[in-house]
Amino acid sequence: MSVQALGQARAPVDAAPLPPASKRALSHIPGDDGWPILGHTLPLLADPKTFVERRAQRYGPVYWSRAFGYRNVSLLGPEANELVLLDAQRIFSSGFGWGVILGRLFPRGLMLLDFDEHRLHRRALSVAFKSGPMQSYLAELNAGIARGIAQWPRRREVKFYPLVKQLTLDLAATSFLGEELGAELEPVKQAFIAMLAASIAVVRVPLPGTRMRRGVHGRSQLLDYFDRQIPLRRERGGEDLFSHLCRATWDDGSLLSNADIVSHMIFLMLAAHDTLTSSLTSLVYRLAAHPDWQEKLRAEIGGLGLGAGEPLPFARLDDLPLAEMAFKEAMRMAPPVPSLPRRAMRDFEFAGYRIPAGVGVNINPVYTHYMPEIWPEPDRYDPTRFELEASRTRHKFAYVPFGGGAHMCLGLNFAYMQAKCFSRHFLNNLRVTIAPDYRPEWRMWPIPYPRDGLAVTLSPV
Ligand code: HEM
Repeated sequence: MSVQALGQARAPVDAAPLPPASKRALSHIPGDDGWPILGHTLPLLADPKTFVERRAQRYGPVYWSRAFGYRNVSLLGPEANELVLLDAQRIFSSGFGWGVILGRLFPRGLMLLDFDEHRLHRRALSVAFKSGPMQSYLAELNAGIARGIAQWPRRREVKFYPLVKQLTLDLAATSFLGEELGAELEPVKQAFIAMLAASIAVVRVPLPGTRMRRGVHGRSQLLDYFDRQIPLRRERGGEDLFSHLCRATWDDGSLLSNADIVSHMIFLMLAAHDTLTSSLTSLVYRLAAHPDWQEKLRAEIGGLGLGAGEPLPFARLDDLPLAEMAFKEAMRMAPPVPSLPRRAMRDFEFAGYRIPAGVGVNINPVYTHYMPEIWPEPDRYDPTRFELEASRTRHKFAYVPFGGGAHMCLGLNFAYMQAKCFSRHFLNNLRVTIAPDYRPEWRMWPIPYPRDGLAVTLSPV
């Protein structure tokens, strides 16, 4: 696929965003504005996967649409993913792409920084994801997951999604913040929940009584909490993620500022929470719908030879290949971040189309994950797609639940670790079943979740 950056950058990347591309500037690209005022917002919100598939059928893999007041060009398929994610020519701004959605509540989170500045911050944060700290997080995850699952109701139908949402929130408190669960942590959790709700609110202005207003208030509570805690953490040490960030340094050895630590912490909690809630829910649904895979995973976990309740050791994470494949396939079918936005900072060319600077650009993991030419029978759950040989022969950007390139998910190993730790405690203690004809409806926006909360029955193994 020929990709060529055309012309010079029209604005420095850290300056104000370029004005959005006009309809005229897109007239040579297939696409349409949709309804007056609303554009395509409603069908996109209702079912983003079907929306993209229909547009692809009508226009092909490059088209533009209008939603939430902006015109965006969608680029579909693995080559498009590679172009945008690798971004060898520094064309695509993640900050101006995600800023439209997350800028007010999560300013200066890692994903909202670009290019050289982003690289510096990512390097500083990376210390918190090295294997030493990861081992401490795993200790907290083991304890927290075992404790949480022990309290889940048994032998009656329950909604799984709210259960696991609460669990991941509690785990964030213990492994990210190093706090004991208790009454004093409650306001912090509530502030965070208000921010999460606001991040997906349709009304994007903090008018009185709106979710956005409560989210902005939640952010200021979290700012206060983190700001107060930073000096304490520096003094007392600690092996949680927050304490690691408090000690993180720039290349010259100086500590990160309070403002930087706070922005990164708040963003990390966002990045981890809903994505893990979504992916663990997808995994449990698939295992309930495919008891053969559930048994395979249980046998694999049994094969580790751990005693009842014994933690999953860090050194054994690589001994669960089936659990990893099962989790990957669940994320293929419901990638927690179904589309990734960018803003083009320069004109560029893709698939024969010249795409103008200033336009919003989207790539689409969920579309790519269902391309039948890459994934035969894409609606079938089949973890063997991730056996080594099959993975090796696929396009490197055909499977992108964690993105790729400079902004590739920094918490990828954390996510696999939590999924395996969850599988170890969950499957060792519980069997999950669903009614034979039960087909829950999955909403794909803003993050995939079962509309009815996912009705399952949990019984002791
Ligand atoms: C199954 C769980 C997860 C999924 C599917 C996921 C997915 C993603 C994706 C797709 C991106 C890239 C977005 C883009 O390029 O526009 C990303 C970025 C990021 N994720 Fe995750 N994530 C998960 C869990 C986590 C966890 C547990 C953490 C932290 C502990 C985390 C921290 C981050 C950070 C910091 C970034 C920004 C990286 C950067 O801009 O350099 N994620 N994630």
